[in-house]
Amino acid sequence: MDNHASPPSSDQPRLRSPRHVAIVMDGNGRWALRRRLPRTAGHRAGIKSVRAVVEESIRQGIGVLTLFAFSSENWRRPKTEVNLLLELFMRVLRTEVNRLNENGVRLRIIGERTAFPEKLQRRIAEAEAATRTNEAMLLQVAANYGGRWDIVQAARRLATDVCAGKVAPEEVDERLFSTRLSFPDLPDPDLFIRTGGEQRISNFVLWQSAYSELYFSDLMWPDFGAEAYREAVADFARRQRRFGLTGDQADTGAEDGAD
Ligand code: IPE
Ligand code: IPE
Ligand code: MG
Repeated sequence: MDNHASPPSSDQPRLRSPRHVAIVMDGNGRWALRRRLPRTAGHRAGIKSVRAVVEESIRQGIGVLTLFAFSSENWRRPKTEVNLLLELFMRVLRTEVNRLNENGVRLRIIGERTAFPEKLQRRIAEAEAATRTNEAMLLQVAANYGGRWDIVQAARRLATDVCAGKVAPEEVDERLFSTRLSFPDLPDPDLFIRTGGEQRISNFVLWQSAYSELYFSDLMWPDFGAEAYREAVADFARRQRRFGLTGDQADTGAEDGAD
């Protein structure tokens, strides 16, 4: 427990629900191998966990969920596994659109999508268009995404604007830079979850996770359901986020800069 001695600054109970959760869905392959199944069976089994966390996010009023589905490094896997993952992505985009619409979920894919087969790019655009007006939640799926790629593409866009005379080099600061990243319209992830037992970022959201609370679960992704997700969110609620302030300042919300 992390109860603090100092009294709360207001009578209002603090709402500590994350606005944005990012998840590295890891452990599909090991889940399958432990059951003497091919790794690909783990990827299929992971889909029900995706449904569970999406639906739990809606119940909890979490506005944005960003899921790492395929990293820019995952192309290095055996071709058969890469192909299966792309096929699965194609299929899920088609079969899940109705459910997303029923639940009011808007879908957005982030990452370098031009590397995908044209058919898949079209399917992505269709799914995004079909769910565009939904407002209950935004589901971002990171596909061929890398945190370094995101930063580099932002730098390239800014450099282009500088060369075109639209931006002066002196104007480039953190705020302006962040407007060129993949989801400048959203709050940074408050909570960053990784399943599968590894404690690393693996090139997921790098810039945007500067102040995310990290949570690691030993469960393999197909075993991570609504209950495990609720536990992660409850753990987040117990943490004190200080953003460089002292604990007291963070408690009282008082930042005067005077001393
Ligand atoms: C995560 O599960 C899914 C993807 C990376 C596509 P893994 O396939 O990495 O599963 P493990 O880590 O090998 O168990
Ligand atoms: C991270 O998992 C990528 C996704 C979950 C999509 P990896 O399994 O690729 O990460 P590493 O290789 O263990 O770092
Ligand atoms: Mg893995």
